[in-house]
Amino acid sequence: MRPHSWLYVALFLPLALAMTVDRQLEERATRKDATVLILGGGVAGVIAARTFHEQGIDFKIVEALPQLGGRMQSFPFGAEGNQRVLELGPNWVQGTETPGGPENPIWGLVKKHGVKTQDNDWTSSITTYDFTGEVNYLDLFDASIDQFTNLTIAAGERVSGNLVDLSSRSGYSLVSAKPKTPQAAACEYYQLDWETAGSPEVSSMIATSWVASIADNFTYDPDFGGFGDDNAMSIDQRGFHTFIQAEADTFMKSSQLLLNSTVSNIQYNTSGVQVTLVGGKKLTADYALVTFSVGVLQNDDVVWEPELPDWKQEAIQSMTMETYTKVFFQFDQNFWFNTEMALYADLERGRYPVWQSMDHPKFFPGSGIVFVTVTGDFSIRIESLPDAQVQSEVLGVLQAMFPNITIPTPTAFHFPRWHANPLFRGSYSNWPPSFSSGHHQNLKATVAQSLWFAEEATSQKYFGFLQGAYFEGNEVASAMAKCIQNKGCVELQDVADVSNAQPYQI
Ligand SMILES: Cc1cc2nc3c(=O)[nH]c(=O)nc-3n(C[C@H](O)[C@H](O)[C@H](O)COP(=O)(O)OP(=O)(O)OC[C@H]3O[C@@H](n4cnc5c(N)ncnc54)[C@H](O)[C@@H]3O)c2cc1C
Ligand SMILES: *[C@@H]1O[C@H](CO)[C@@H](O)[C@H](O)[C@H]1NC(C)=O
Ligand SMILES: *[C@@H]1O[C@H](CO)[C@@H](O)[C@H](O)[C@H]1NC(C)=O
Ligand SMILES: *[C@@H]1O[C@H](CO)[C@@H](O)[C@H](O)[C@H]1NC(C)=O
Ligand SMILES: *[C@@H]1O[C@H](CO)[C@@H](O)[C@H](O)[C@H]1NC(C)=O
Ligand SMILES: *[C@@H]1O[C@H](CO)[C@@H](O)[C@H](O)[C@H]1NC(C)=O
Repeated sequence: MRPHSWLYVALFLPLALAMTVDRQLEERATRKDATVLILGGGVAGVIAARTFHEQGIDFKIVEALPQLGGRMQSFPFGAEGNQRVLELGPNWVQGTETPGGPENPIWGLVKKHGVKTQDNDWTSSITTYDFTGEVNYLDLFDASIDQFTNLTIAAGERVSGNLVDLSSRSGYSLVSAKPKTPQAAACEYYQLDWETAGSPEVSSMIATSWVASIADNFTYDPDFGGFGDDNAMSIDQRGFHTFIQAEADTFMKSSQLLLNSTVSNIQYNTSGVQVTLVGGKKLTADYALVTFSVGVLQNDDVVWEPELPDWKQEAIQSMTMETYTKVFFQFDQNFWFNTEMALYADLERGRYPVWQSMDHPKFFPGSGIVFVTVTGDFSIRIESLPDAQVQSEVLGVLQAMFPNITIPTPTAFHFPRWHANPLFRGSYSNWPPSFSSGHHQNLKATVAQSLWFAEEATSQKYFGFLQGAYFEGNEVASAMAKCIQNKGCVELQDVADVSNAQPYQI
């Protein structure tokens, strides 16, 4: 334990306990708006609220948007008379359940609230294309799955040998997976970037093996506590967010929910927090549970008084918020592939690579809807372009994929700008090679006993996933509840200095 921690134990805890009994409680009783302010009403915030409710702890959710769900956002898409509700954000329950094994808690809520889903086959219902048209390179595709598995095995050896993390690019090279053609690069993209939303160069070898690809360890592989290899896609016309909003309705009172309320400033000390909203309203509480995305925390969208400690800032700035962008098209008629998925290999890696047909018997037959996903820097690039330019680029790609037809004019077109959105600043977190386990601990650690943190990015096993937000909301709220009920606290401990095992010798 670092000296600072001993100080906490020796000086601070007795002091805090004494204060809790005497001054703090009476001070706060007269002015606080809640024991806990949950900042953000996404999956982590709602599940934390449910935990507080179960523990009899008084809370309020403060959310900028007019509804709960956070990144779970649906929208009606298509020409008049032929619209479907689609998902701008998450769309799948990734890893559902294995009979007799663990169940993804998101899948549990989806079943409980009757959200309509369809299994989406990512591996055996796929057509491959390149810039010359349809070209079968499924052999490369199958090899890319094995290469990813080889990456996870090598990553596991690094963990058990206590060796430093590397980038997934280094890891791939070390297992002799070195894509040399646009087709091989597209297959690699499908296994890795399409899930992490970052390239192998910017993605941790170790952590990527936990979360990426259909072969990842913690979400899909039941041997490692994963849930199973299905991807259940929401096609519910009420929107995928239905499961979290309906769950909130089972326990939450309207007085516990402040919507349309954007936090601009958070003042904190060891005796409590004061949160200022845009417009000037102030809220006070004993504790705040911050569930904003790591992208929001990185971009100074919220001002902290005092500034967050160095160890916290280092952790926040060292995680990465990536961007995953779906570009939606509707045409009068389906002229494309009959499979659920398609992969396009451009000369430029990551240029409009992963395609999904919604106009498929399993999803929305007759809808004329197809969408393409881009990620990472390519997402940021298209966000900076006018819609019309993005549309014409993608139509050019479709023309390359289908050289023998004239691509018709779309009847509808849309894509969201997650990276520019000040409430998210990207789509989800990705663990870079320079992010160590100490950083991860610090991302989640408590500050000044009153500020707690839970969101998808604080999940080691499931960062980037809905289940990550769920587990974190539940786990951190449970730890806070213990603190509150004991009238004293064992906070989530930080690491003062994240240092090298072996110093540089210059
Ligand atoms: C395009 C996309 C695709 C995805 N696909 C999948 C998928 O298929 N499957 C899957 O499992 N996961 C997927 N994810 C990831 C999943 O959406 C997240 O892991 C999860 O929703 C995160 O929940 P959260 O509660 O941690 O954060 P959030 O949902 O971001 O909740 C935080 C809340 O804080 C609010 N907020 C932010 N700033 C302020 C402020 N200043 N004041 C007040 N409120 C504020 C936000 O509005 C938001 O509601 C996807 C995400 C995106 C964007
Ligand atoms: C939030 O604002 C929207 C308009 O943006 C409004 O329609 C809605 O009624 C507001 N909701 C609440 C709870 O204030
Ligand atoms: C995976 O690793 C094994 C063992 O080293 C090797 O034989 C196999 O060729 C690798 N697979 C691929 C697709 O590279
Ligand atoms: C991931 O799973 C593989 C087996 O598929 C295992 O060999 C490896 O050690 C695991 N890797 C990590 C980082 O847990
Ligand atoms: C904490 O801050 C509040 C005002 O924000 C102040 O009234 C209180 O005295 C502070 N407590 C401590 C222990 O610094
Ligand atoms: C496109 O037309 C060319 C020339 O007629 C033909 O060789 C090719 O097979 C066609 N491709 C498709 C996908 O129909």
